[in-house]
Amino acid sequence: MKALVLSGGAGTRLRPITHTSAKQLVPVANTPVLFYGLKAIADAGVTEVGIIVGDTAAEIREAVGDGSAFGLDITYIPQAAPLGLAHAVLIARDYLGDEDFVMYLGDNFIVGGITDLVERFRAERPAAQIMLTKVADPTSFGVAVLDGDGRVVGLEEKPAKPKSDLALVGVYLFTPAIHEAVRAVKPSGRGELEITDAIQWLIDDGRDVHSTTISGYWKDTGNVTDMLEVNRLVLETVEPVVEGSVDEESELIGRVRVEAGARITGSRIVGPAIIGRDCVVKGAYVGPFTAIADHCRIEDCEIEYSIVLSGSSLTGVRRIEASLIGHDVEVTPAPRSPSSHRLVLGDHSKVQISS
Ligand code: TTP
Repeated sequence: MKALVLSGGAGTRLRPITHTSAKQLVPVANTPVLFYGLKAIADAGVTEVGIIVGDTAAEIREAVGDGSAFGLDITYIPQAAPLGLAHAVLIARDYLGDEDFVMYLGDNFIVGGITDLVERFRAERPAAQIMLTKVADPTSFGVAVLDGDGRVVGLEEKPAKPKSDLALVGVYLFTPAIHEAVRAVKPSGRGELEITDAIQWLIDDGRDVHSTTISGYWKDTGNVTDMLEVNRLVLETVEPVVEGSVDEESELIGRVRVEAGARITGSRIVGPAIIGRDCVVKGAYVGPFTAIADHCRIEDCEIEYSIVLSGSSLTGVRRIEASLIGHDVEVTPAPRSPSSHRLVLGDHSKVQISS
């Protein structure tokens, strides 16, 4: 069995971060979200992994390498444009050969891994096995309709009037039967080859499509709100450890991880929180559910429930909350008089100002 991990895509919902970075590499508790998926695949005993890459191919290759750090053997499969999840299967045909495979969306986060799911598929070998979870608003997901025995009888992509509240989670298992299906489907209204249409094609062709409804936690980290929520969840499990230095005027409360080379002075950090390598935190308050990546400077600031990517500096501002801050960003106070905001924002930035 092989794995196909989708790490291309446009990532429009995470702009401007995705103008310059791959969304699958945005860190959750200081580890790229993609790495949690690769670990889940390795834990399920699958070692041959094809990664679909798009515009951010170089960055993904740089981060993941040959996969040996994960115990995986990785092959990169370039996708010229994000033409849909079924298109990714189409272009991976040669790599996948006639093997069964697990398809994993590189920006999805699933607590509890995929080992049980893979084992069930190996035992039953339906043409396709999908994972479902109940959601409050199914209109932005692929949605499945089941019969009384739990068999999938219909699928719809982002339906205006959903027929159920069961959304497709970003992990799918397929036999080679899917290759015929992805060749048969036509682009949808949004111009993509939809995997839901390909699975519907299997159902219409009389093939078995099984589903597992998970009660565990799943998030598509495609938007900032979900990203912050997954970060919160993972930080809850962080082991407190101080590898950097903390002076006597500072106070660490709860689960706080201070990585090597980080210097905390005159600050209060309330966990769960991570301060990355070689950060400087000075006269600051860092509140719960905050992950500060390496080489950041947080001085005379208050920040809580946020993710800060590497190399950024936040000085003299309060309070920052529910924020996703990119690499090498500078946030400083404006002159007090006249009271004004001075902004240099990249395309598609989103700023909420309290005034
Ligand atoms: P999506 O989140 O559905 O799509 P997207 O990345 O284009 O994001 P947005 O909706 O914000 O514009 O994609 C799910 C995952 O699959 C994600 O990791 C990107 C990847 N993907 C591909 O690799 N190729 C594709 O053609 C598509 C559509 C997605």
